[in-house]
Amino acid sequence: MKQFSVMPKITMLELCDEFIREYHINENDLIFTIEAAWTAHFQNVNAGTVVYIEKYGRGEPTDEMIEAISRDIKRPYDRVIAIGGGTVLDCSKLFALKETVPVTDLFDKKIPAVKDKPLLLVPTTCGTGSEMTNISILEFKRRHTKFGLAADALYADEAILVPELLYNLPYKVFAASSIDALIHSLESYLSPKATPVSKMFSAEAMRMILNGYKKIAAEGRDVLKSLLSDFSLASTMAGIAFGNAGCAAVHAMSYPLGAEFHIPHGEANYAMFTGVFRKYMEINPDGIIRELNGIMADVLNCQASGVYEEVEQLLGSAILPKKALREYGMTKAQILEFTDSVITNQQRLLSNNYVFLDRNALIEIYTRLF
Ligand SMILES: [Fe+2]
Repeated sequence: MKQFSVMPKITMLELCDEFIREYHINENDLIFTIEAAWTAHFQNVNAGTVVYIEKYGRGEPTDEMIEAISRDIKRPYDRVIAIGGGTVLDCSKLFALKETVPVTDLFDKKIPAVKDKPLLLVPTTCGTGSEMTNISILEFKRRHTKFGLAADALYADEAILVPELLYNLPYKVFAASSIDALIHSLESYLSPKATPVSKMFSAEAMRMILNGYKKIAAEGRDVLKSLLSDFSLASTMAGIAFGNAGCAAVHAMSYPLGAEFHIPHGEANYAMFTGVFRKYMEINPDGIIRELNGIMADVLNCQASGVYEEVEQLLGSAILPKKALREYGMTKAQILEFTDSVITNQQRLLSNNYVFLDRNALIEIYTRLF
């Protein structure tokens, strides 16, 4: 039986002041954010404990960061509010649970994930869709990869979209995060768990993102500010789609790469994207992927047969140039190492693949992109 649900309530505001007024942030709140965002928009707000995530580590979240934050939270709190990108959101979800640490035990399901506090998520990038999903993804340092915990206790109570918080997003962060959202929409469309409703969210998110990219390519980066509401909504819609249907091999294969070389998540996905999709086409070009390529080709005004080249051309010229895996520092020996890590650690994602990819197929994808 296939199901579809949208869990957190979604609220759309334009300005930060509206958010502060409506949600009465107070001294009993535990806030997760980054210092620059807090200083720019919330300086006069009287909150309880404010956790600046970057004090615990740069880049994507790790198990060690969660342990350190947990040690530092001294005061009791009634509500968790996260204002930030995927790292901030994914970390905060774990602190709305009854027990968070040892976080390895939580992710290994030795500790049950039980929701304990209300959770409000306010994204400040336009990609992760984390505000809509029941997933938290951490890098486990000793395991040398990322690993996701999916549990309904990780759903937020509310996702609040405030485009003003994105006005000063660095272009590179916009690029990587929006590509992540694009890949959420594409992988979820092809997933065997997709439903007609989830596909509608996938397709619309994909159209909005590709149309936004076309506008940037035609008019230059200055147009981005006027598109932030669209990108923000598209990211949330892609989050709804993959929250229901799941992501797959592109995410799975990007995890060891991203963890090893500290590549932003969306960029690591982009490095894998066309390699995985071309392999899908070799194995079965006549399934749902034909429909998906047709939708992309319509938006991009190109032939469906050349749609991946067209996406790479558009992204390469206006959004983010694509790199070969060796340019990130990957070695030939790591092709096998990463393949085995994916097979061992990423079955949650691989089970959503459009077609089954065996070990040789994964090796071939890494090799071609190398
Ligand atoms: Fe992602």
